[in-house]
Amino acid sequence: MINIEKEIKTTAEKVDAHLNSVLNCEDADLKAVFDAANYSLLSGGKRIRPFIILQFARALGGNEDVALDFAASLEMIHTYSLIHDDLPCMDNDDYRRGKLSNHKAFGEATALLAGDALLTDAFFVLSSANLHPGVLIEAIKLLSYNAGCRGMIGGQVMDMTPELLKDDFERLNKMYSLKTGALIITAAKLGCLAANVLDKKILSSAEEYARNIGVVFQIVDDILDRYGDEKDLGKPVGSDAKNDKTTCLSFISKEEAFEKAKQLTDEAVSSISNIPNNEILTSLAYFLLNRKK
Ligand code: IPE
Ligand code: IPE
Ligand code: MG
Ligand code: MG
Ligand code: MG
Repeated sequence: MINIEKEIKTTAEKVDAHLNSVLNCEDADLKAVFDAANYSLLSGGKRIRPFIILQFARALGGNEDVALDFAASLEMIHTYSLIHDDLPCMDNDDYRRGKLSNHKAFGEATALLAGDALLTDAFFVLSSANLHPGVLIEAIKLLSYNAGCRGMIGGQVMDMTPELLKDDFERLNKMYSLKTGALIITAAKLGCLAANVLDKKILSSAEEYARNIGVVFQIVDDILDRYGDEKDLGKPVGSDAKNDKTTCLSFISKEEAFEKAKQLTDEAVSSISNIPNNEILTSLAYFLLNRKK
């Protein structure tokens, strides 16, 4: 029987140890931006995207050191997206990962630049991984595409455009699959690449799994934003209502949203039937459906 919480915790410890070494400041003049970037990067997120990378890599027989570089890189992008997401010009939230959000601790200008630094240095970390250059270029292409205009950023812009989402549940799903799904798809595929797997069938199964759990992740995030516990979440409850955000709860009830998330989770699980050693990934999908933080 898999103890998924224990698996996530053990992996998070490895990822944290690696993240501790990626942004070491050797120049005292530059300390301010390193301090601000490390403040958010090392403040203990759940490390779900790194977990997905490491589990796909492990399932496919990959090298853990490469997977850890990929994981650090994606977590840097994810952390930058959170720093910017909390800014007053976006969601204007004061707490993140149980601490003051970056701009509350360091001021807006430094928070903006800390986010920029994490985004840029992520590609330094990714491109330094010890892997065949051809596979590495695929990894760089994958991450840059999904973090950019056609991926996470595109989704964040849709999220800020209420007239686009109001009355359009389909578009809301599209927004979820971009702002949250794109980086989760990246995690699954980076895990395959870390194992040197370029097989189209395996990559598309990984993508299908991640596409589904990505939407589930945002549905649950929106449910927790309304009904969750601030202490567990480490971020404010009620942020979406405060910002007049259209979420799945603007269209369907909490129970219907959970039912939809459950169906997507079942689809995620059936899409990785061709991936060997998939038990932990299966268990992760159900864990994410039922998470409270
Ligand atoms: C929060 O992501 C932002 C969303 C895409 C919903 P996480 O819930 O993974 O946040 P951390 O990394 O654990 O803080
Ligand atoms: C996801 O949306 C944010 C990103 C893609 C960065 P939210 O705005 O709902 O994320 P939280 O709830 O602030 O973590
Ligand atoms: Mg947001
Ligand atoms: Mg937010
Ligand atoms: Mg949210």
